[in-house]
Amino acid sequence: MCGIIGIVGKAPVAERLVESLKRLEYRGYDSAGVAGVVGSGVERRRAKGKIKALEEVLTAEPLTATTGIGHTRWATHGAPNVANAHPHSAGRVTLVHNGIIENFAELKAELAAAGRTFESDTDTEVIAHLIDAELATGLAPIDAFKATLDRLTGAYALAVLIEGAENLVLGARRGSPLVVGEGQGEMFLGSDALAVGPFTNRVIYLDEGDYVALDHDGARIFDASGAAVTRPVRVVPTSAVMMEKGNYRHFMEKEIHDQPEGCQRTIAAYVDALTSRTAIPGDVDWAKLERIQIVACGTSYIAGVVGKYLIEQLADLPVDVEIASEFRYRQPALRPGALVVAMSQSGETADTLAALRYCKAKGMKSAVVVNATESTMAREVDVVWPIHCGPEIGVASTKAFTAQVSVLTAIAVAAAKARGTIDAAEEQRLVKVLLEAPRLIAEAIHLEGAIKEIAADVAKARDVLYLGRGPMSALALEGALKLKEISYIHAEGYAAGELKHGPIALVDDKTPIVILAPHDSWFEKSASNMSEVMARGGQVIFITDTEGVKHAPEGAKVVVTAPASDPLVSTLVMSAPIQLLAYHVAVIKGADVDQPRNLAKSVTVE
Ligand code: M6R
Repeated sequence: MCGIIGIVGKAPVAERLVESLKRLEYRGYDSAGVAGVVGSGVERRRAKGKIKALEEVLTAEPLTATTGIGHTRWATHGAPNVANAHPHSAGRVTLVHNGIIENFAELKAELAAAGRTFESDTDTEVIAHLIDAELATGLAPIDAFKATLDRLTGAYALAVLIEGAENLVLGARRGSPLVVGEGQGEMFLGSDALAVGPFTNRVIYLDEGDYVALDHDGARIFDASGAAVTRPVRVVPTSAVMMEKGNYRHFMEKEIHDQPEGCQRTIAAYVDALTSRTAIPGDVDWAKLERIQIVACGTSYIAGVVGKYLIEQLADLPVDVEIASEFRYRQPALRPGALVVAMSQSGETADTLAALRYCKAKGMKSAVVVNATESTMAREVDVVWPIHCGPEIGVASTKAFTAQVSVLTAIAVAAAKARGTIDAAEEQRLVKVLLEAPRLIAEAIHLEGAIKEIAADVAKARDVLYLGRGPMSALALEGALKLKEISYIHAEGYAAGELKHGPIALVDDKTPIVILAPHDSWFEKSASNMSEVMARGGQVIFITDTEGVKHAPEGAKVVVTAPASDPLVSTLVMSAPIQLLAYHVAVIKGADVDQPRNLAKSVTVE
């Protein structure tokens, strides 16, 4: 979603605004812009497309401001073009916005009736007009801002410049996150800590409904009622260094390779390696728990489905997993004895947050498996289960997925032990299995050379089918999602048992069929699906393990042999091959791997 940066600086800020916008590219965007206070006015520079285009505009027309704001726009209202790019201006006001103003149509009609004209199709522009109208009544900037906020319905994070108010940036948040960064005589405003990361690690997370005035003296923060408040300053661990691609061409490639370490760090936080026992932080009574309700979107949802297989099978604990955007609106029947677990890399996904709040309002205890530990979800739940894989920048989720699955695997073992479905010896065996997973993931990543060759063929396909059984049916969904989102090839993931109920009609000699089949209790069934597909001319890419390869039917076009693993961790091990396949197909097709078209890293609007 849209990225925001604001700087009250001591020296020209254009270069730093752009630097910060580059850090925000991972959120997804289709235009970018900056504005700054120059003399008694405010000047804007905007461009459609990538930040490079904005840099070209700035080279042609430099911006000399020492106080400024910047924005990457992910289009919601109005096409991605220069007129709709932020910042938007009206009279004395120039601003940038992340979110959606739900009552913008009625506000726009009211402003138009008062003689105001609009230069964009955005919901954002009405905010600039409203503030300007309030200023015209003689209100001071902060009061005109507050009066406007009181009229807005919907979600927003805002950064605002006012002509004639040099060295002032106003900010506000409701529904979309916003942070303040404290520098040496300089102040920053950002849509997340990464935005201000290049300049400071001292960060204040604004609360829901807060608004703020930044100048050289610091930040004056007010809550939704207008009362002055203080919010704690946190020193954030996310260093700018962690954001580099290193020797990799893309963040996604780096993040695939980061997985052994990311999973190792995550697993270490949920088990005691010395005693080989689980050690799940937080106060959850696994023995008494009646049910788990997982809510999530996208890849996080798929991680939840893998968790359901493991938790129900090992701990005999019912788990429901539901796509948050469906869950939040269908009035599900909930009971207070259940635990809601939100799964979210960002901790800001609007639908997941709403589903979580719905469950909390029904009296359920809440937890989140999350990467961004300072995110809104992390701050609202009873128990935070962090993944420790480091910031994920590629829009296609990879290392967050395997880290999420690692957490749910540890939880499955802990719950099983607490509920008496496994004994202490089995707990110790399973913890040892889990601790071995990072090494096996690293071995699976070594298949990259072979997968690159397969990718050359898959890149020519129009459709690809992914099949698997058990947890591999979830991984089939993930394989298809990864391929779709970064290579734009149509792909479907199916539980292989469903093959005969429809998808087998798709099988022809041009459609690659990826079958995920480690040598587990489902193997024979998956192998027989492979035979069915081949009998119809299907081109099978059989991804199995060193045990499965001994029993696989003849005739697959390609066999990929991952290391053998216990079923507890086979999803973790088999993830790398499907991620690498999607990655190399996208590279061959010349796609924008880290910022695929139309997608945002953090979906903060529903
Ligand atoms: O930040 P979240 O985990 O809540 O995000 C959920 C989805 O938007 C995300 O997993 C999305 O599906 C990814 N692009 C998948 O690669």
